[in-house]
Amino acid sequence: MKKRKTILDIAGMKNSGEKISVLTAYDYPFAQLMDQAGIDVILVGDSVGSVFSGYENTLPVTLEEMIYHTRPVIRATEQALIVTDMPFMSYQVDLSDARRNAGRLIKEASAQAVKLEGGENLAETIAAITAIDIPVMAHIGLTPQSIHRMGGFKVQGRQDAQAEQIMADARAVEDAGAFAVVLEGIPARLAAQVSQELSIPTIGIGAGVDCDGQVLVIHDILGLCDKYSPKFVKRFADVRQTISEGISSYINEVKTGVFPGEEHSFK
Ligand code: KIV
Repeated sequence: MKKRKTILDIAGMKNSGEKISVLTAYDYPFAQLMDQAGIDVILVGDSVGSVFSGYENTLPVTLEEMIYHTRPVIRATEQALIVTDMPFMSYQVDLSDARRNAGRLIKEASAQAVKLEGGENLAETIAAITAIDIPVMAHIGLTPQSIHRMGGFKVQGRQDAQAEQIMADARAVEDAGAFAVVLEGIPARLAAQVSQELSIPTIGIGAGVDCDGQVLVIHDILGLCDKYSPKFVKRFADVRQTISEGISSYINEVKTGVFPGEEHSFK
């Protein structure tokens, strides 16, 4: 039995200069494959709404769905740190709601930490959750739950005022007790400055190479989705084609009576 990583191991990786690898997973088989390959952190992201449930964005995802998707990820893994996203409206209403919902992800789903989107504006919430010993990963820059404020998925921090706000957000989440922060969709130079200034690890997505770690959505790196793929995604495999060919072959063999063969039948 391998020892599961903790937030202390992740902090130690920043200190030793080892890059932190993070991928999203929402089910048993993908989580098991990632864990066996040695991924450091698995994020049960609310991107599940887009790539699994087929919603237009992450806003409809519920806490119950996050609990449901975290459980198989926990069962499938032995060594990765498991972080689960707090979905939209599970932490914004008030602090007791935020604490209770973060607690449900730990108690009912067995996540080791939660992630929430927001900087200075959510510092009090991060402090309230960390005060009851639930580790929080923050998420700043392009925050998908703020899609309506941002007017779409747009790079954040290109103008000076926005860049200053992102730096202030980064300092605020560290001061509030976050153990790591996701930097999404910001210029690489700004992400490098944030990573240099903070003592907690930064995990980049569309934020350049100088972050302390990188995160991507598993469906994006495997080419599983037919949706638009952003510039920051690198496709490491194209399994959509392989799956599609397998399904077509099955249909064809059923229609033509080739499958099942004698070797698949009982005497
Ligand atoms: O929901 C998600 O998958 C995320 C990552 C892409 C950072 O928040």
